[in-house]
Amino acid sequence: MIHSPIIAGAMKLGKWGSNFSIPEITSFVKEVYDLGITAFDHADIYGDYEEEERFGRAFVKTGIDRKSVQLISKCGIRLLSEKYPSDYIKHYNTSKDHIISSVERSLKNLATEYLDVLLIHRPSPLMNPEEIAEAVTSLKDSGKILDFGVSNFTPSQFEMLHSFTPLCTNQVEASIAHVDPFLDGTFDQALKYKTQPMIWSPLAGGQIFQTDGDDRISKIISVVNDLSLTTGHPTDQLLIAFLTRHPAGLKPILGTTKPERYKSAMQSLEINLTDQEWFEMWSAAIGREVA
Ligand SMILES: NC(=O)c1ccc[n+]([C@@H]2O[C@H](COP(=O)([O-])OP(=O)(O)OC[C@H]3O[C@@H](n4cnc5c(N)ncnc54)[C@H](OP(=O)(O)O)[C@@H]3O)[C@@H](O)[C@H]2O)c1
Repeated sequence: MIHSPIIAGAMKLGKWGSNFSIPEITSFVKEVYDLGITAFDHADIYGDYEEEERFGRAFVKTGIDRKSVQLISKCGIRLLSEKYPSDYIKHYNTSKDHIISSVERSLKNLATEYLDVLLIHRPSPLMNPEEIAEAVTSLKDSGKILDFGVSNFTPSQFEMLHSFTPLCTNQVEASIAHVDPFLDGTFDQALKYKTQPMIWSPLAGGQIFQTDGDDRISKIISVVNDLSLTTGHPTDQLLIAFLTRHPAGLKPILGTTKPERYKSAMQSLEINLTDQEWFEMWSAAIGREVA
């Protein structure tokens, strides 16, 4: 279980985003930690397989006790990279050997003895649930991971793998601009198993703030801006409150690397949207009044 109400995304700290130096990552981690954000979301592939190692070096310099934070990482996607010349096509690898060796690499890079949560990054058509379960048992028995979950799984894929090894979460995309998991059974399943979904792109990857967005996004944002005027809550906070109002206990993973935006996100936790305010946003999201 993730304790932090908001998770800090590590994907854009380096070459896939802000190009932070190690001291800048150290400052970022300290600042968000001081705001009460204690979980960090990684993947083996972030920053062309480099981000975990850079984060690990930066984290050591923060002086923060490892046990007071939770580190999430993922494996299974194989990117085209000069670092792995034998990979000639982007693909997935969910074999037992790959899962175990990827976790061992993440531990070395993050300079930690254990991951709090390991996720399979994407469902592979070739995944063998018995092999995955064997890898998970071995990693848990050796203390290398504390918990295991998945990302981007459909409810039926989740159900299938959950019957072989317990899953603690499904990390999925959701926002006011992407409400599929509210409707396709993903969040129903999270309620059933009490697995709090982690939410990626909770602010629609930033597109919600762009004035040149498409018609659908423009209509959504105009409703949220109006609600911001009537309630006095800033737009970004309303977008997060829209997610955290759901009873499944969604955990937004922010992608910004600006601590002031994390501060605002934490303030959103004080917002108690009324049902009607929430349905104003829901109606904008689905493009019509509810039936
Ligand atoms: N499991 C998966 O398959 C998967 C896939 C994608 C991502 N993830 C995880 O999810 C995390 C978040 O993803 P994301 O980056 O798409 O999330 P996001 O928080 O929806 O989007 C971040 C973007 O929104 C912009 N933004 C945030 N607040 C803003 C504001 N108030 N005004 C204007 N722009 C604003 C940011 O710009 P600034 O940087 O300028 O603030 C940034 O470009 C990633 O770091 C990663 O850990 C997981």
